[in-house]
Amino acid sequence: MTSNAKNFDDLVQSRRSVRIYDQDVEFDHGAVKRSLERATLSPNSSNMQMWEFYRIKSDDLKKEVANLCMKQKAASTARELVLFVVRPTLWKERASFNLEKMKSSFDEKPSMDDKSKKRALSYYEKLIPTLYNNDKLGLKSVGKKIFAWAIGTKRPMVRQVTKTDVRVTLHKSVSLAAMTFIYSMKAEGYDTCPMEGFDSKRVKKLLKLPKDAEISMIIGCGPAAEGGIYNERVRVPNDDVIFEL
Ligand SMILES: Cc1cc2nc3c(=O)[nH]c(=O)nc-3n(C[C@H](O)[C@H](O)[C@H](O)COP(=O)(O)O)c2cc1C
Repeated sequence: MTSNAKNFDDLVQSRRSVRIYDQDVEFDHGAVKRSLERATLSPNSSNMQMWEFYRIKSDDLKKEVANLCMKQKAASTARELVLFVVRPTLWKERASFNLEKMKSSFDEKPSMDDKSKKRALSYYEKLIPTLYNNDKLGLKSVGKKIFAWAIGTKRPMVRQVTKTDVRVTLHKSVSLAAMTFIYSMKAEGYDTCPMEGFDSKRVKKLLKLPKDAEISMIIGCGPAAEGGIYNERVRVPNDDVIFEL
């Protein structure tokens, strides 16, 4: 095992969801900043980065949000709460961002022919808008599903093309960012607890989040208090979930 793997294994083995945080020892909020900056480097679908991270540091606001996290101690005792949010309407500006980056990268690839360039650009010009541009009722999804099915009868085809599938994709990506954040905080010497037990409607209203925002998780963090881990870690046997085919 490499020393990196050993260090990473230490983090993984020692990370637990902590439900009570110490109020007295000093907490370095810079660790949250650094960890979020690392989280933005997480893999994410088509590099669309349709995520946002909201930090709740002030005691008053933390208290209000913790109440909406069903008064969980993991939230009320957290030294900081971080919302991991997806923004389905950001697709246009993110597609443009990637398109512009791709165009400027062509300057460094003078050998690339025009046909290859056109094909590469069409990813963000055509495919991404087709997938991400959805109507309120999801009616476009029906057409996309039929299209994917029809193509799929002839050749391999991505089947996850509906509005709901896009939402899943966004939550997948932000979850990877959440994981990076959690391990980064552990490496910084702090603990975390991801939470989905909260009143999303009220939290959105309280924090005046954009209309399309969906809160994927709220992560409480800080230094663990004694008794902050509620129970022994239990997992189903590896043989029940890891398969070699
Ligand atoms: C998506 C998600 C939502 C969770 N929501 C909560 C929650 O609302 N409250 C809580 O105390 N723990 C929550 N957890 C933590 C899990 O209960 C915990 O990860 C699991 O029991 C395994 O324990 P461990 O993290 O200590 O290994 C959540 C974890 C995930 C990934």
